[in-house]
Formats: sequence, C-alpha cells, structure tokens
Amino acid sequence: MLFQVLLFPPQASTNAAEVDLIYFFMIALCGFVTVAVVATMVYMAIRYRRTPTNLVGADIHGSTALEIFWSAVPFAIVMFIFAWGTSLYFKLSIPPANAMEVFVTGKQWMWKVQHMNGRREINNLHVPVGQPVKLTLASEDVIHSFFVPAFRVKADVIPGRYSTMWFQATTTGSYHLFCAEYCGTEHSRMIGEVTVMDPTDYQSWLETGNPAAAPAATGGGTAAAAGGEAQTPVQIGDALFHEKACVTCHLPQPGGVGPVLTHVPGSEVELSTGEKVIADDAYLRESILTPMAKVVKGYPPAMPTFAGQLSEEQVMSLIAYIKSLGGGPAPQAAATH
Ligand code: CUA
Repeated sequence: MLFQVLLFPPQASTNAAEVDLIYFFMIALCGFVTVAVVATMVYMAIRYRRTPTNLVGADIHGSTALEIFWSAVPFAIVMFIFAWGTSLYFKLSIPPANAMEVFVTGKQWMWKVQHMNGRREINNLHVPVGQPVKLTLASEDVIHSFFVPAFRVKADVIPGRYSTMWFQATTTGSYHLFCAEYCGTEHSRMIGEVTVMDPTDYQSWLETGNPAAAPAATGGGTAAAAGGEAQTPVQIGDALFHEKACVTCHLPQPGGVGPVLTHVPGSEVELSTGEKVIADDAYLRESILTPMAKVVKGYPPAMPTFAGQLSEEQVMSLIAYIKSLGGGPAPQAAATH
C-alpha cells in the first residue's frame, strides 16, 4: 500500500504486519462510517427539505426491525474488533518460551543495555535476526517508554516495577529506538538504535564487540563492555549475594533463617497469609526491595529492606543469579521446608 510505504516505518518484526493490518482495518471502518453518515445526511437534507407543499412533517413512529438492525450490526463489528485486538494483544504480551533475555534500564537520559554474557551497551541494542528477544525493562528515575517503531512495540518503563516486551526481528538492519514518554530536559535526545544482525555476526559481536563482517556502521555509543573481562549478570549477582550477606540467611539447604532459593524462580510460593503467588521476576524484585510485602509461610519476617541500596541493574543481576541456582519449580518442599 503506497500510503503505508510513505508514512510508515518498515515492518521488521513478526508481529508488525498484523499490528498494521488491524490499524488499517480500524481506519477503513471509521472512514466508511464517516462517509456513509455524512452522505446520508446530505442526501436527506436535500431530499426532504422544506418546500411550500410539505410544511408539516410526516408523523413517523419506531421500527423494531430497524432498531434491532442498527444495534446488532455494530455489536457484531465491535465484538469482532475486540476478539481480534485481544488475540493480538496476547501475542504481543506473552514472550515465547525460547526467547533470549536482555536487561534494559532507562535513566535520565539514556538506555543502558545488559546482555546475559555481560556485554553492555548504551543507546544501542544488538539482537540476532529470527530469534525471539525478551526485554526486561526497569527505570532508575522517572517514567520512560521504550519504543521501536519498526517492530511495532512500545512499553512504558516505570520506576518501581518491571515491564517486559518481546519481539522477533525479521530483517537485518538498523532501526530507530526512541524514548516515547516525556522524561525531562533531554527526553528528545534519549534515542538510539536497534541493530539486527545475522546470528553468526551477533555471536561474534557478543564475544568481541565487533560484528564478523560489516564495519561498525552505527555512530554514537556502541559496545561499552570491554575494559577487561565483562562480568555476566550472574557473576555480579553472585558477588552481591555474598557482599550484601544474603548468603547468611539463604543457605543452599534448609535450616537457614530465610527460604532456600534454589528452586524458587518460576515456582508457586505460599505466603504467611495463606495466599499463593508465582515467583516471577516482579515477585523476586519486590522480595529484595520490600521483603515485608510478601513473607513466605513458615519463615519469620526478618529480612531487612534493600531499597535504596541496590541499583536496578544490581537487582536484575541478583535475580539472574538466583535463577541460575537451579531454575524451574521445586521437585517439592524445597521452598517451604
Ligand atoms: Cu526517557 Cu523520555
């Protein structure tokens, strides 16, 4: 569609075409209704205008058939939009299980990216083509919004909680990355690039900071990892786990003051209130920063808060470390002895 080529960014992710399709469907539907209403109005105004021969209007009463028609048809149309929109929303919200994870932190005024092998970059995100990528997003200060138009994805990044986003890039190349939420003086400069690479180039970039082939095309801040061996989030989390003395209460085997953490991530945890929750990233983050919010059944509310003592990147690293301990739900009874 010419209209689309002129006004729209390229469709560079697996979900982009369907997002555009529902958008164009809505525009076409609104256009059709607008034209139909205005045309009918103009026609009626002329056709039934007052003339010397019809000074008194016809006395018209209701029509049940018509009323059912104009209620049922719009209802069917909006329910169709609801069903389509919801199914697309779920597709956009739920990352595939095999998605590669990347941490992103927004702060005034830059995007800090941390890959699982420890490579970091600023205002730049390198990803492989054809591979689902899940971003876990946090903010160090105010609300930002991570927006990649070519992928048709946008997520508010809100202080105090995690946002997630996923996409699968379909074409190699370089795409705009914006902050789409006014966040202060340099909001308009909180921009960057998403670089989609062949998987082999990506691997090479991940390990060395340079793609195998093409020269580092993009200007601005590229891979800022280097400077000695890059520490992975798991290694950073491991060090913090000891430095912050988490290890004195969370022992590898039952008997500590706090629960064993080995199989906690992703499992169901029973709280002192009897409520059961899933230990996802948001739960782990909350339990580190505000431990009293959800106390695990059978344990004293003894953990100090770490709010204000850890940056979002450090919290993400701790979570990565805890996940690396065993992962997956407990065989049984590991978390609640
Ligand atoms: Cu960050 Cu606008």
